[in-house]
Amino acid sequence: MRLLILNGPNLNLLGQRETDVYGTASLDEIVAQVKETVQPFGYEVEDFQSNHEGELIDRLHVSKGKVEGIIFNPAAYTHTSIAIRDAISAIETPVIEVHLSNVHKREAFRHQSLIAPVCEGQIVGLGIQGYRLAALALVEKAKSEGR
Ligand code: DQA
Repeated sequence: MRLLILNGPNLNLLGQRETDVYGTASLDEIVAQVKETVQPFGYEVEDFQSNHEGELIDRLHVSKGKVEGIIFNPAAYTHTSIAIRDAISAIETPVIEVHLSNVHKREAFRHQSLIAPVCEGQIVGLGIQGYRLAALALVEKAKSEGR
């Protein structure tokens, strides 16, 4: 059983970028924490980060039927990308949208998510914990559906 952690643009700079907003943990540390969280349930975790919209879309496509769920922080593409939204709709794999910061406390342009309507749920503002909680929710969902 597998989960994918998918991260969008500029998240490769986590730990160095605007640490007052996004915290000091690096992306590798976040991935390690999620792995540790779901390992007891027999889950493996793969991760992919890209600064390019098309690469994120390609990764969504190839994940169809290969993972039980996707923890996805599309970063700024959240607010702009109809193409990413359509890719999520196309693959029929449960996706939980995660944002480290509370986007609703920030600039108005971050309040709208184009992808939220095609996701299972959304977790914002809980930092790294948001990724871990999303992973646990996907594990539970798969279990309740007999997967
Ligand atoms: C973010 C919030 C987005 O608005 C922003 O563009 C990011 C990070 C977050 O995790 O809080 O790059 O997705």
